[in-house]
Amino acid sequence: MATQLLLTLFLLSFTLTTIKAEDTGFVGTVDPKSLGLNKKQTLSHFRFYWHDIISGSNATAVQIIEPLPKYNTTTSFGSVTVTDNALTLGPELSSKVVGRSEGIYALTSQSQVTLLMVMNFALSEGKYNGSAITIVGRNVAYEEAKELPVIGGSGVFKFATGYAKAKTYYFDPKTGDATTEYNIYVFHY
Ligand SMILES: *[C@@H]1O[C@H](CO)[C@@H](O)[C@H](O)[C@H]1NC(C)=O
Ligand SMILES: *[C@@H]1O[C@H](CO)[C@@H](O)[C@H](O)[C@H]1NC(C)=O
Ligand SMILES: *[C@@H]1O[C@H](CO)[C@@H](O)[C@H](O)[C@H]1NC(C)=O
Repeated sequence: MATQLLLTLFLLSFTLTTIKAEDTGFVGTVDPKSLGLNKKQTLSHFRFYWHDIISGSNATAVQIIEPLPKYNTTTSFGSVTVTDNALTLGPELSSKVVGRSEGIYALTSQSQVTLLMVMNFALSEGKYNGSAITIVGRNVAYEEAKELPVIGGSGVFKFATGYAKAKTYYFDPKTGDATTEYNIYVFHY
């Protein structure tokens, strides 16, 4: 009897807390349809080129934190760069701009050149104009094809998942400027 009463009290308090949470607007359940999530997902493949221009007066990638001198290695450990890189249809910087890559990358390995990349690919083409794909991932410089997860996005890319394959198209060892081909496979509604 006593246990039953306790259980009832417990359940009652549980229900009361739940109702209270909804009352304050903190959390509640919604019908997926109201967010357009009843539609079938589309798997899209985007391909464009990412221009990391760090040299010259028109640099779009700017180092904001220098490598930590203490580590004195060739891995640039600790360096952080902020970017507003052009995304173009073709490999030439002069080809059509389809978006910009706003983000940061940091050199995060003491033993090899590895980047933590955090990027918002803000697209400007057609129905994708104003929508962004968000990528957070690990980029090991010496690897032929890097894989970076698509962790979500905005606009068309709300609830998006997928991954990007990044492949160096061009690298100038003198200036450090690079062009990377991005193939992005993304599920979205
Ligand atoms: C920077 O951009 C301006 C305007 O587009 C251009 O005239 C100039 O040649 C560019 N400079 C470099 C170093 O690319
Ligand atoms: C750092 O590296 C340079 C070039 O490899 C070398 O000349 C220098 O002695 C190194 N400094 C330290 C503190 O290890
Ligand atoms: C994208 O949208 C912006 C803001 O609405 C507009 O100014 C711009 O012209 C559009 N770009 C393209 C390529 O349609």
